[in-house]
Amino acid sequence: MTEPKKKFLAALEGQSFDVPPIWMMRQAGRYLPEYRQVRKEAGSFLDLCYTPDFAVEVTLQPIRRYGFDASILFSDILVIPDALGQDVRFEEGIGPVLKPVTGPQELSALSKDGLLDHLSPVFETVRRLSKELPRETALIGFAGAPWTVATYMVGGRGSPDQAAAKLWAYRAPDEFQVLIDLLIEATGDYLLAQIEAGAEAIQLFDTWAGSLPPAHFERWCVEPVRQIRARLKEAAPHIPVIAFPKGAGPAYADYFKATGVSAVSLDTAIAPEWARDNVQVLGPVQGNLDPLLLVAGGEEMKTAAARILEALGDGPFIFNLGHGIVPQTPPEHVAELLDFIRNFR
Ligand code: CP3
Repeated sequence: MTEPKKKFLAALEGQSFDVPPIWMMRQAGRYLPEYRQVRKEAGSFLDLCYTPDFAVEVTLQPIRRYGFDASILFSDILVIPDALGQDVRFEEGIGPVLKPVTGPQELSALSKDGLLDHLSPVFETVRRLSKELPRETALIGFAGAPWTVATYMVGGRGSPDQAAAKLWAYRAPDEFQVLIDLLIEATGDYLLAQIEAGAEAIQLFDTWAGSLPPAHFERWCVEPVRQIRARLKEAAPHIPVIAFPKGAGPAYADYFKATGVSAVSLDTAIAPEWARDNVQVLGPVQGNLDPLLLVAGGEEMKTAAARILEALGDGPFIFNLGHGIVPQTPPEHVAELLDFIRNFR
């Protein structure tokens, strides 16, 4: 007997459902007490990412609690710079701290040799997850999109304006292109290895896509994602790719067409009715409840969720947040939201 298609994957193929498939960006994390426990045992955040026993456990935690339709591999977008040889640390209360790459000299010290060896614990995590997940739960692999990863590599940490990477891209685009090309290649290798290990769909996070003006958005966000998508399509044609160009605004529609991805994840600022008329006509969309409405909970959260379900629920659609869950989210609000979505129609 053939297994029925997993709901999340069916939605990515264009199917609609009365109750849409649901998962949440950053669904494993500090808002869960059981995550904080494992995080303490693991030591550093990168140790957590590179120890399959721990990474498998924290990936499964939100699935056990909430029965999401998809799970996302537990790792981070910054394992790529780490594997390329950049010094990457995660500091309590600060976030990621990297030794900045600011010119050709630091750039030439990075290398993709040994990338897949360095990341082999991640592939082991994927292999184990594909055996341990409930049969109806899809497994998403992921990476950061080259532009967003570059903003951390160049700036050395998160910044509100991504100024360091932007200035390099504006002043010396040909140099900056070398970094982006390295990331395009490394990210393609990395994602294909995740797929080989059992990832059933891929999400590319371009958290800082919204910081670039149109021509630069084309060159540094659209074009790299188009290339990665084309390579995956060639080597793994059946694996859907979701892109999250956060802050793209009205460019969401052209981005969807130009990159050739299977679906886009909408950020919080996109009106669901606009998305229905301009984006969902192109293919499946995912989104887009404000993570802070999940913190607030109650009627305000439900009213916003209802508006999303009314506008996009005829599908193809996957319910998600407009950005990642934040640590102060009460876990019972997630349960309350799921209950609301599952009983909406
Ligand atoms: O559950 C999941 O979604 C899977 C795991 C996941 C993490 N990070 C775990 C994590 C995923 C998909 C990411 C993506 C990621 N990482 C992005 C893109 C999406 C987004 O949220 O914008 C970015 C920009 C990063 C880089 C990053 N990692 C930052 C800026 C930080 C610090 C901010 C913070 O929340 O602490 C991290 C650390 C990080 N990545 C944590 C988790 C659970 C918290 C670290 C901890 O537990 O100490």
